[in-house]
Amino acid sequence: MRVTLRDLQRMKAAGERIVMLTAYDYPSALIAERAGVDMILVGDSLGMVVHGHETTLPVTLDDIVRHSAAVCRGARRALVVGDLPFLTYGTEADAVAAARRLLQEGGVQAVKLEGGAPVADIVRRLTGLGVPVMGHLGFTPQAQHQQGVRVQAKDGPEARRLLADALALQEAGAFGVVLELVPASLAAAVTSRLRIPTVGIGAGAGCDGQVQVWHDVLGLFEHKPPRHARRFAELGVAMEDALRAYVGEVRDGSFPTARQSASMDEAVLAAALE
Ligand code: KIV
Ligand code: NA
Repeated sequence: MRVTLRDLQRMKAAGERIVMLTAYDYPSALIAERAGVDMILVGDSLGMVVHGHETTLPVTLDDIVRHSAAVCRGARRALVVGDLPFLTYGTEADAVAAARRLLQEGGVQAVKLEGGAPVADIVRRLTGLGVPVMGHLGFTPQAQHQQGVRVQAKDGPEARRLLADALALQEAGAFGVVLELVPASLAAAVTSRLRIPTVGIGAGAGCDGQVQVWHDVLGLFEHKPPRHARRFAELGVAMEDALRAYVGEVRDGSFPTARQSASMDEAVLAAALE
């Protein structure tokens, strides 16, 4: 049975933490599901971790639609959320068209967009049409050239504005809010003032749930992951070791062997080659 918005609401009420993780393809979705992840985010972080861009800004709707379709083929229980890419939700008409593609072509159950009060009308329009919407406040990577990549809302006016934005999203019908790179105490205060769940990343332990990026959690890159991440494995190293073994065995002739090969009748072959 698919996780629903009601389930998430019940989890918040019961104090059960919500576990969200990004995934970008079919095998990853299968693994995330088997591990018990509640929500899968097809994040526009794929621009960086899958496509090698510097930021999320070049990610297109086609990118998210295609990766969402792959993820959704592997996800039966987890609620799949697709990110609306940069500048695809500037008007209500754009947002509706983009959400249509993510839900109908991508197969996701919900969309996520960045921003607070300024996008409240968009959120209201989408939720009014039956599209579950998740908000995203604090550091919002699509606005990184305005914000800078750093912890947000550390002063009084910004903290007050973040709370007001969170309330505006809730009022507009959002079913949850991601809080990224905000002080833990602020995230906890926002969490206790909202009826809808908060999902933190770099926002301390006081949110209703947590979201992390696949590659950060699994240690798929050599470079230092962000401070808020923990590498639960070193899969990048494990992959490199495995590939070194493959390269070595092809070079020295120990792979493939008869076990990986097909045989045929010697006499048939001899006759065929005459
Ligand atoms: O794109 C993404 O991965 C995200 C999460 C970091 C919340 O938006
Ligand atoms: Na994102």
